[in-house]
Amino acid sequence: ETTYATILVEQRDRVGLITLNRPKALNALNTEVMNDVVAAAQVFDVDPSVGAIVITGSDRAFAAGADIKEMSEKDYSDMLSEQFFVGWDALAALRTPTIAAVNGYALGGGCELAMMCDMLIAGDSAVFGQPEINLGVIPGIGGSQRLTRAIGKAKAMDMILTGRQMKADEADRLGLVSRLVPADTMLEEALKVAAEIAGKSLVASSLAKEAVNRAFESGLLEGIRVERSLFYSAFATDDQSEGMAAFAEKRKPNFTHR
Ligand code: CAA
Repeated sequence: ETTYATILVEQRDRVGLITLNRPKALNALNTEVMNDVVAAAQVFDVDPSVGAIVITGSDRAFAAGADIKEMSEKDYSDMLSEQFFVGWDALAALRTPTIAAVNGYALGGGCELAMMCDMLIAGDSAVFGQPEINLGVIPGIGGSQRLTRAIGKAKAMDMILTGRQMKADEADRLGLVSRLVPADTMLEEALKVAAEIAGKSLVASSLAKEAVNRAFESGLLEGIRVERSLFYSAFATDDQSEGMAAFAEKRKPNFTHR
């Protein structure tokens, strides 16, 4: 098993768990963290024994943003030639459902990483924000797009232009959060939801997340067309026959994820 310098990785039954582990920097997301998270997630993604991936941080911080110390040395040409942050795109492209399990600070890139996941389970200690404006920059890992789609222009402009922090209850009310739970049981709850998802057909959950994600990426008519063809493709799978046969026979389905 591979070990990584900046994250802890373990598998619990059908759930892959990635824990950001740079406590001294509040899990700031430097290039090494990006490479570690993406590499570990991609290993889980091609492993049929993994049906859901949870990404979490610590009680104090999910992640306090991209690493400001790393970025402070860079100029425009560095950003272009290094394709800075582009590696994160691979995380949003996983086929396996992903859950961000958030306690404490989810700021800047931390908020963007959480929004990149398919579901966001927050403890009531979670704090969200896009404070890049205070550093003279703007969000760079999709925050201006995903936050606006998640909570609308009025609230996204408020957060991105002022850099203000938003507490978990407001984020939950606005639809940024899938489930809000007490901080001390947050990870347990997230792992429970992940296990529930991982118990379903992985081919179906992959199609489902692709279809929902298309709602973010395209207009309604195109999205509906894509959904229809993904829906049809489910009928090429064993899990569809099994799921429907099990319903008719009043028993639990035995999915093979094929
Ligand atoms: N990058 C690098 N180091 C960071 C960091 C970051 N984003 N956030 C925190 N740290 C470091 C601090 O420098 C400090 O290290 P030292 O002990 O070596 O000084 C350590 O983590 C602990 O942080 P604080 O002492 O500041 O802790 P605090 O409890 O007083 O404050 C905080 C917590 C409010 C989150 C504060 O750390 C903070 O404001 N962090 C920066 C938040 C931020 O601006 N994030 C956006 C980054 S830009 C970005 O993300 C761009 C993008 O779109 C991807």
